[in-house]
Amino acid sequence: MMEKVDYGNWVSVRFVVVPGILGLLLAVWAVFLPYVGIPAGVFSLVSLYFLHARYQFSPRGRDVQARVLDQVLTRLPSGSEVRQVLDIGCGSGALSIEAAKRYPTAQVVGIDPWGRGWESSKRLCEQNATVEGVADRVLFVRGDAASLPFEDEAFDLVVSNLVFHEVRGVRDKKRLVKEALRVVKRGKWFVFQDLFGWRAVYGRPDALLGAIRSWGIAQVELVDTTGPARVPRALKLPFMLGTVSVLYGRKNT
Ligand SMILES: C[S@@+](CC[C@H](N)C(=O)[O-])C[C@H]1O[C@@H](n2cnc3c(N)ncnc32)[C@H](O)[C@@H]1O
Repeated sequence: MMEKVDYGNWVSVRFVVVPGILGLLLAVWAVFLPYVGIPAGVFSLVSLYFLHARYQFSPRGRDVQARVLDQVLTRLPSGSEVRQVLDIGCGSGALSIEAAKRYPTAQVVGIDPWGRGWESSKRLCEQNATVEGVADRVLFVRGDAASLPFEDEAFDLVVSNLVFHEVRGVRDKKRLVKEALRVVKRGKWFVFQDLFGWRAVYGRPDALLGAIRSWGIAQVELVDTTGPARVPRALKLPFMLGTVSVLYGRKNT
């Protein structure tokens, strides 16, 4: 039987289980100490919220993941000049694999630290690439967006989807954008989707664009993608998809 791809869910099951268990334990405790009922209710609501969010993101639910990813795919450059592609924070490989399908002669590298159990996450990426028929041109490696293990100007196209805000230990997320741009060849492309509209993380959008231009990149656009991706109201919180935008452009020659 033909295996199916599994691109996972961007909302980890931990966000449902951990507050759910805490809510239950506190609810039992509240039988003896009624005021504990308040945190019990809060934890239970958090758990229910993330359960709903998982349903919204899932291909078996509202498939928001595919619609959001599509906002990157529609901005990929066309043409055969794309030979080397890097996908930063590749997750289960969805964007790396789509890029390999889009550019049939390109070599694609997907990089992610994957955390605990990283071997099975990497294996899942490889299985997905096999099912999609691109395993011979996609390489998945363990690595960190904060310090990419590549030389300057190594790639024709660098992409990343909803990763930079998740990178721990780097307060100034603009640094991650700068690091990603470092590995783009001169005259070549980048398409990054992240929570660029979340001011607590990235500051003002015009300041972000100003910083990127000051690094010598003249062609850069920032577009709010909440509308085109039809982000449901429940996911419009800033740390979910309420501030999602695509930053794309081309490095100066
Ligand atoms: C919301 S998921 C998106 C995954 C993938 N880009 C996609 O579109 O399906 C965020 C990803 O960022 C990765 N990530 C977290 N910290 C990272 C880091 N320091 N460097 C690279 N990726 C990281 C996570 O492991 C996870 O796969």
